[in-house]
Amino acid sequence: MKKITYRHRTPFYHFLKTQLGDQIPPRLLPRRLRILGHVAILWLNPQIEQYKELIGETTLGYSTKIRSVLRRTAAITGPYRKPAVELIAGSPETETVFRENKVIFHLDPVKVMFSVGNKAERLRMSKLGTDEFVVDMFAGIGHLSLPMAVHAKPKVIHAIEWNPDAFHFLQQNIQSNNVSHLFQPHFGDTRQLAPRIGKGQGDRVIMGLIQGTDQYLEQGIQCLRPGGMMHIHEIGPKEDMATQLLSQLHKIALTMNRQADLVSTRMIKTYNPRYNHFVLDIQLNSR
Ligand SMILES: C[S@@+](CC[C@H](N)C(=O)[O-])C[C@H]1O[C@@H](n2cnc3c(N)ncnc32)[C@H](O)[C@@H]1O
Repeated sequence: MKKITYRHRTPFYHFLKTQLGDQIPPRLLPRRLRILGHVAILWLNPQIEQYKELIGETTLGYSTKIRSVLRRTAAITGPYRKPAVELIAGSPETETVFRENKVIFHLDPVKVMFSVGNKAERLRMSKLGTDEFVVDMFAGIGHLSLPMAVHAKPKVIHAIEWNPDAFHFLQQNIQSNNVSHLFQPHFGDTRQLAPRIGKGQGDRVIMGLIQGTDQYLEQGIQCLRPGGMMHIHEIGPKEDMATQLLSQLHKIALTMNRQADLVSTRMIKTYNPRYNHFVLDIQLNSR
């Protein structure tokens, strides 16, 4: 039997256990709940799938903020990083809005992703980029570049995105946060767009894609001036998160007559029991 450790006994778990513990084995009840605006998202053990409506209805009572409850049905994958979710209770109107660190985010969690666990990185981004030329190669709804725009005031942020839904919310978020004067959203494939936009003049590139970032290292480097910074997100084995990606980056940089100097490696969050999500800060110098 799976042991429930202290770490797993969240307030949400306690709430569900109190409400449903006599109907559903407590050890199978969900522990994690993410709340984005009025939408709550949870993960269900397949063994209690038959109780999904009951758990959803009960979750509506957990907070007065919650009006829709979604269940994640699979991991976020695919070129558009579209979430796999199912409405299990409440309103089917899942388009919502919330504020984090004075940044307004509009989104529909049925259509686009938002990683609550990347909060510390969004906060860090809000302190970087003042007066800079920034390229956000995988902008999504503006997760990482909106905090930068609102707080640090770069000269310009070129934000590239190819998922039509994410691009729609990116545009809406740029307007809502009153940063249209310093944002240039571009719809399309970053592989073609980023080098044309950056033209070796960028001060900073954000590469917020995990699983496949290595396919875009060359384009990231092409964006940057000598001395420019890259923030590369990826996942990697816990015992040795970044070695493979770094060695790939060094090789590609050399072929472009550049030198990739590692400034820092940060863990963002646990991705799964064996992998971490990390971010590398790299300075691209000339050789
Ligand atoms: C992981 S999501 C954004 C995550 C966000 N930056 C964060 O860290 O929370 C990555 C985004 O990149 C977009 N994307 C992936 N490949 C792309 C490409 N070749 N061109 C443009 N956008 C791309 C996806 O549609 C998705 O919205």
